[in-house]
Amino acid sequence: MKNFKFDVDYVRDQFPALSRSVNGNPAAFFDGPGGSQVPRRVVAAIEDYLFYHNANAGGEFLTSKDNDRLFRRGREVLADFLNCAPEEVCFGANTTSNNIRLAFGFLRTLKAGDEIIITDIDHEGNRSPWRTLADFGIVVKSVSLDPETCTLNFDDYKAKLSDKTKLVCVNWAANACGTITDVKAYIELAHKYGAVTVVDAVHYAAHKPIDVKAIDTDILLCSAYKYFGPHVGVMYIRKELGESFPSVRVYAEDNADMPTKMETGTLSVANICGAAAAVEFIADLGEKYGECFEEELGALQGRRRDIVAGMLAIDAYEDGLVGRIRSELSAIDNLKLYMAPEGTPRTTTVSFTIHGVNSAEVGKFLAEKGLFVWNGDFYALEIVHNVLKLGPQGGLVRIGLAPYNTEQEVDRLLAAIKEFAAAHK
Ligand SMILES: Cc1ncc(COP(=O)(O)O)c(C=O)c1O
Repeated sequence: MKNFKFDVDYVRDQFPALSRSVNGNPAAFFDGPGGSQVPRRVVAAIEDYLFYHNANAGGEFLTSKDNDRLFRRGREVLADFLNCAPEEVCFGANTTSNNIRLAFGFLRTLKAGDEIIITDIDHEGNRSPWRTLADFGIVVKSVSLDPETCTLNFDDYKAKLSDKTKLVCVNWAANACGTITDVKAYIELAHKYGAVTVVDAVHYAAHKPIDVKAIDTDILLCSAYKYFGPHVGVMYIRKELGESFPSVRVYAEDNADMPTKMETGTLSVANICGAAAAVEFIADLGEKYGECFEEELGALQGRRRDIVAGMLAIDAYEDGLVGRIRSELSAIDNLKLYMAPEGTPRTTTVSFTIHGVNSAEVGKFLAEKGLFVWNGDFYALEIVHNVLKLGPQGGLVRIGLAPYNTEQEVDRLLAAIKEFAAAHK
């Protein structure tokens, strides 16, 4: 990275939500891991589709042809986001629904006694769909987690893998605590046993560039509403796997090709247009800051280069903000941080509790000052309730960073947390 100076005002001008206020305080959105804010161009793309191109697929008339063209374009843009071919991109309502569809498709190939590995660090969106298969005699095992370091136990994974393992479903970045798992190592080992891999990149996608080919996963899922888009689930399925995959049967689609066979019913092409515009927002940042990342970008070209550059710029900017959050919060003696140790890859999401206080109280106090953070379990039920055992105190308080956050917002947030902690000693 060379001569990087992020123009946060250029970003902020694109997000109308940042004009909101609470009790005279400008709203500061630290709620990104639950869903980011949306730039104007995303809403413009959705509006343009609904006003001028709205029709079902496959007709001979103008608007239906527009629909098909925009749908195809959405696949192309998202393919560049993930580094795959457009026919390897499948859309759905959200990641949880995509996983449910996958689980019931795989069920057609599995037999009682076959095994699936999931992890304790995952959101239920990448656990519950697979756990449901236990009702059909499939054995579901979960990789354990070290509560001190908030990292998965790779030795436990190795011990759980066997010739019976048919699927490994692993999280890339944890929405509860920001830990980034070395999914490549999990995938490499899974493939040695002939297992299919499913990577949950929902949290990761908002912070780091994704390259499905570099990690060599069979399947990867993310959701556009976490990275400046509307609510639509995006799923990569490796072409050869997808072609032989016994998708959930829908009569009309039984013999369909990839990616259509994975897409049940009529999709929101309006939101797919919005998801493409969200990626273009990232690519636009990449065009602006590409020169700073020439070394990292190497021989990448075109839109893929811009997207990767945009994500590197977002990552570098957020990284500059998070250091102070981590160090100043760790100096508060009645506050406990839940994060992987220095040196372990992690996103800029920072979670904590205040001793003896329900996390909802912290959330409410900050909300009154216009500081929007999440509190609770964020559907990461296993880690929050069973591993960290934080149910009785209302789970975690979670700070998420996005490229529209500023130093001044971080100042306000830290001052408010210190005030709250001091008053609850
Ligand atoms: C890590 C992770 N996985 C999965 C999901 C579920 O995604 P969706 O809401 O698109 O079903 C979330 C949502 O917060 C998440 O953070």
